[in-house]
Amino acid sequence: MTLSQERLAHLLAQPFRYYDSVDSTNDIAQNWLREGAAPFSVVLADEQRKGRGRKGRYWYTPPGVALAVSVILKPTPQQASKISMLGALAVAELCDHAGIAGVGIKWPNDVQIHGKKVSGVLPEAVWLEGDLLGVVLGMGVNIRVQFAPEIAPIATNIEDEVAHRVDRAALIMYLLGRVTHWMAQDSDALFAAWRARLNTIGQHVQVDGIVGQAVDVELGGALLIKTDDGSMKRVLAGDLSLIPPQAEDE
Ligand code: BTN
Repeated sequence: MTLSQERLAHLLAQPFRYYDSVDSTNDIAQNWLREGAAPFSVVLADEQRKGRGRKGRYWYTPPGVALAVSVILKPTPQQASKISMLGALAVAELCDHAGIAGVGIKWPNDVQIHGKKVSGVLPEAVWLEGDLLGVVLGMGVNIRVQFAPEIAPIATNIEDEVAHRVDRAALIMYLLGRVTHWMAQDSDALFAAWRARLNTIGQHVQVDGIVGQAVDVELGGALLIKTDDGSMKRVLAGDLSLIPPQAEDE
C-alpha cells in the first residue's frame, strides 16, 4: 500500500504532517517545534530531496521506497543524549517485528542486518535562548531502495531481508509506538536495552583515528576503546569502522 495523507490520518493518533516530497523532514519538524508542536508530533515524507545524514552527509530517500520519519520529542536536558539510543533501538525493534534475524546496532546508532546498514538516525536538538525546546528524532529506513553499486555491498532493505512486500504505513505505526514506549521508560532501562543490541563491543575498531578494541559503553553513550598501546580512550561521537582480522595481521 502507498503512503498517503488519508491512510496516515486513519492510522496515527498523534498530530502529523505528511508530504509527498520535501527537502528534509528534520527541517520541517524543527520549524514545527519552534512554532509550538506538541510532543510526539511527527513529520513524514514519501521522498526527501535533501535528506540529511550525520556529519552533513546526504541521505538518499527516493520516492516510494523508504521511511523518512522525524518525531518531535521534549526530553529533559538530562534525557536528551539518550534520544540517539532510543531511535536506534526503536528501529532495531521494528526490524525484529518485521521478522528479521541478525539485527544489531553499530555504535552509536546505525541499525544493521547481518552487518549491512538498513537505517540511519539523526537526532537534532533545538534551543531557544539557552533553553532546550526539544529534540527532533530523524529516522530513515530503507525499504526497497535501489542502491548505487558502491553502496550495495554495505546497505540493505527491509524487503531484501523478508522477501515480501511490506506496508510502510504499518511499519511507521509500529516504529512510533516503540518511540513512545521508550520515552516513558527510565534512562537506565533504555541504556541497558541499547547496550544489549550493540554489535560493536569486543570488536577491533577505528573511530576518527583512534584504533583499538571496543570494550564497553558508558551510560551517556560514550564508547570506551582500549588502544593497542593499552591506554583507554573515551569517544563521545564519530564514524566507526570495523578492522577485519586480516588487516590486523598486516
Ligand atoms: C545517518 O547518516 O546515518 C543518519 C541518517 C538520517 C536520515 C533521516 S531520514 C528522516 C530524517 N530527515 C533527514 O533529513 N534525515 C533524517
